[in-house]
Amino acid sequence: MSVLEGRTALVTGAGRGIGAAVARALAAEGATVMVSDAGVSVDGDGHDAGPAETVAAQINDSGGKAFADATDITDFAACGDLITRAAETLGGFDVMVNAAGILRDGMVFKMSEQDWDAVISVHLKGTFNLTRHAAAWWRENRGGQYRLINFTSMSGLQGAPSQPNYAAAKMGIVGLTFSCANALKGYGVRSNAIAPIAGTRMTQGIKGGGSMDYSDSNARLAPDNVAPPVVYLASEQSEWLNRRVIFAGNGRISLMSNPVVEREIVSASGTWDVPTAFAEIESSFKEAVLWPNIFDKPPAQ
Ligand SMILES: NC(=O)c1ccc[n+]([C@@H]2O[C@H](COP(=O)([O-])OP(=O)(O)OC[C@H]3O[C@@H](n4cnc5c(N)ncnc54)[C@H](O)[C@@H]3O)[C@@H](O)[C@H]2O)c1
Repeated sequence: MSVLEGRTALVTGAGRGIGAAVARALAAEGATVMVSDAGVSVDGDGHDAGPAETVAAQINDSGGKAFADATDITDFAACGDLITRAAETLGGFDVMVNAAGILRDGMVFKMSEQDWDAVISVHLKGTFNLTRHAAAWWRENRGGQYRLINFTSMSGLQGAPSQPNYAAAKMGIVGLTFSCANALKGYGVRSNAIAPIAGTRMTQGIKGGGSMDYSDSNARLAPDNVAPPVVYLASEQSEWLNRRVIFAGNGRISLMSNPVVEREIVSASGTWDVPTAFAEIESSFKEAVLWPNIFDKPPAQ
């Protein structure tokens, strides 16, 4: 039997790239899927129902069951309507995948207020909008095996220098995901985030592909290669997994660590003075911090 037989899912950003791959994979495993995508440009302009309709039609043509939707996820009220409509149309509402996204890159010292707001609005507020209404529906309809799967990025986890808006939104999504993991566990919800990597129109702008081969011929970086762990998270089998970030793509599925105290200095008296804090911070923390990160440039020769 297919692993998602009888399950129902709403996927945003499902008209293209990773969201489309996830929608196809969920449907191939037996889920009934609402393919939702506003069909905007990579920087968030325009509106086109075509991409969602095309992906839903492909799923239906290949024997799956899908419906199309073109809601703009930045609209709080429209997201509420979408959750109600999805639950009625799909005959339930088990899985929410928040994969919609845009990019407006730029160094922080040049970033416009509009580019900051647009990226925060789609990623962080858009993920909140659907999560908020999904959570209310799950609370009203207790007894299910519900799943919240949000999309974060290594860009946030590692601090991509030219993506301050995107990095901030994606780390905000981690906080939202973790908060929901604790708040909604009692309602049958498991809440986790995926940090993917795949060749899509989002990665086309990376100069020279960076160190990665994003060409269509590289199956390791195909959007379809991100989908299997998302299918796992969507299944009832993932009940044990909550409040974690999973990296997916390029042939890897990685369990990322949650923040833990790495080193700690404790004052015997319970208070600190400045000279002691200077001395203790340097002797205890410095060695742990002085390692190169992926964005450090090699020293000039
Ligand atoms: N591609 C990667 O390597 C990569 C890396 C890290 C994170 N991500 C994340 O994965 C997710 C999918 O990215 P992708 O690479 O497939 O991008 P993509 O551009 O191929 O697809 C994103 C889709 O989201 C839709 N969308 C954007 N704004 C919307 C809005 N306001 N309302 C509804 N739909 C909207 C777009 O129309 C588009 O079809 C995103 O959240 C992205 O940030 C991707």
